[in-house]
Amino acid sequence: MKVLIVGSGGREHAIAYCVSKSEKADKIYCTPGNAGIAEYAECAPIGAMEFDKIVAFAKEKEIDLVIVGMDDPLVGGLVDELEAAGIRTFGPRKNAAILEGSKAFSKDLMKKYNIPTAAYENFTDPDKALAYLETAKFPIVLKADGLALGKGVLICSTLEEAKEGVKTIMLDKKFGDAGNEMVIEEFMTGREVSVLSFVDGNTIKTMTSAQDHKRAGDGDTGLNTGGMGTFSPSPFYTREVEDFCNKYIYQATVDAMKAEGRPFKGVIFFGLMLTKEGPKVLEYNARFGDPEAQVVLPRMKNDIIEVVEACVDGTLDQVDLQFEDNAAVCVVLASEGYPVAYDKGLPISGLEEFGKHEGYYCFHAGTKFDGEQIVTNGGRVLGVTAKGKDLKEARANAYAATEWVKFDNKYMRHDIGKAIDEA
Ligand code: AMP
Ligand code: GLY
Repeated sequence: MKVLIVGSGGREHAIAYCVSKSEKADKIYCTPGNAGIAEYAECAPIGAMEFDKIVAFAKEKEIDLVIVGMDDPLVGGLVDELEAAGIRTFGPRKNAAILEGSKAFSKDLMKKYNIPTAAYENFTDPDKALAYLETAKFPIVLKADGLALGKGVLICSTLEEAKEGVKTIMLDKKFGDAGNEMVIEEFMTGREVSVLSFVDGNTIKTMTSAQDHKRAGDGDTGLNTGGMGTFSPSPFYTREVEDFCNKYIYQATVDAMKAEGRPFKGVIFFGLMLTKEGPKVLEYNARFGDPEAQVVLPRMKNDIIEVVEACVDGTLDQVDLQFEDNAAVCVVLASEGYPVAYDKGLPISGLEEFGKHEGYYCFHAGTKFDGEQIVTNGGRVLGVTAKGKDLKEARANAYAATEWVKFDNKYMRHDIGKAIDEA
């Protein structure tokens, strides 16, 4: 079968890696892809939002299955366009991807269906938001409604900061139209866990858990990023937590979407916070996490094509989803200055080491070819991932492997997985 993957990051590289292992995949394409994905896939320089070109490309290459990795095209309705052209596609349609595309929608959904989440109010009028803040408790959390590259969340300690935040989101439109509406919600404390799941509209099968590190600097300091590293599984995702989420969150979300006439097929990513009152949903995403996928997918035992096809066909209940009984850690190698300003085009060396070691992976996040040479092409450059028999071993292996790779201005966090020691 011919498979097309849409996206260009470490997540899509991890997906491409799994597809390359599938007996069912004869040929893989990726739009636009990157220098790492090119090892498995023929990459075509078509942007993820160039829907017409993607549809035309899929027709021309007689693609049997498209896997959409990224949030923007999902929220924008790429799946609908591909399906309208008769092309089988894995991912939620536009009316279901709104689960990620609108935080106001997802909060209202959770409220309506009693899914545990932080208390909140939605606002389309900045004056009403400002008036609400006058009586609020601090710290408080402001969220732009729409997609904002993971940066549309402001945690405000004081009334002044929060007023400034409303201005930033709704008046200055720092996140563009994503700030036409805003959620103001209760600040929660606790450990964060990411749980990704496969969904076929009715059935949900959760994958192994993971934890991300969103801040740029060691000790969770500095600016929010797309994610600086992950580990899987999370030792804090206990059987008790899982039972609670099975009972009140996972199936409840799938059923709620169905009841709303928005059946969800694809991956639902549950961003959870383990609060004193129990697990609560921080956010939903409508796709694999990045870099969560880099630690979760290499541990999956199933053939990814079989699972993905079961989601498309509505037969996920017949799939026995299984993960290896080990652990994985991913350390992101970024370019110094990320997420603000950084150089691109810096030559990378040492990548060949990964091919020589079982259980080690170098997923490309922002790379490209400059002639024969692979060079940096983004803030997050590579996701160095290693497995181990447990989290400690996986972490030691991943950090050892970060030394194999060299490029100017290489930057990483040194405390990915530090929480493991507290478990
Ligand atoms: P989100 O994009 O909604 O996941 O938010 C990004 C990050 O902001 C989360 O991973 C949390 O660390 C933090 N955050 C979001 N909502 C809350 C909340 N209600 N209370 C505390 N922290 C939050
Ligand atoms: N790592 C968080 C995300 O993919 O949104």
